[in-house]
Amino acid sequence: MKGTAIILLVLGTPLVQAATPGEILASYRAEATRVSPGYRPSVAQGAHLYGRQFGVSEKMPACSGCHTARPSQPGRHVVTDKAIKPLAPTANAERFTDPAKVEKWFRRNCTEVVGRECSAAEKADFMTFVMEGR
Ligand code: HEC
Repeated sequence: MKGTAIILLVLGTPLVQAATPGEILASYRAEATRVSPGYRPSVAQGAHLYGRQFGVSEKMPACSGCHTARPSQPGRHVVTDKAIKPLAPTANAERFTDPAKVEKWFRRNCTEVVGRECSAAEKADFMTFVMEGR
């Protein structure tokens, strides 16, 4: 029941809801498991998604292009050159605390870089890697 509540929180209430990175990660893992029961969390898959040169967008080939090779480091927007705070919650306590914000940026950046929305499993694994705080 708790998992269901968190999924509802992530998928859609218009209210601004605070959550912890652990709760948001748990809801993506729950969704990934619901979609494919054999799903196993993978840091390696997350690291792969984070660093892979998709080459779908010429300007934005990889997540690491803006977020740098290490999630604990501050980044820079490859197009606008604006500073981006570190993605790792260990370096930036605001990260992964607002489910709507997390969804919005996953949608926008995956569409741009990967050429489609990321699956729940991809989001979960990406977060698992980023939360390691390397
Ligand atoms: C063109 C630059 C750029 C690229 C490439 C990029 N991002 Fe981002 N990302 C941003 C910006 C800008 C923000 C929002 C500003 C901020 O929160 O610092 C952001 C925020 C995020 C957030 C919000 C986290 C939170 O809780 O604050 C997530 C998740 C994220 N990006 C994931 C990804 C993933 C996954 C990829 C690759 C598929 C990716 N990003 C590629 C620029 C980029």
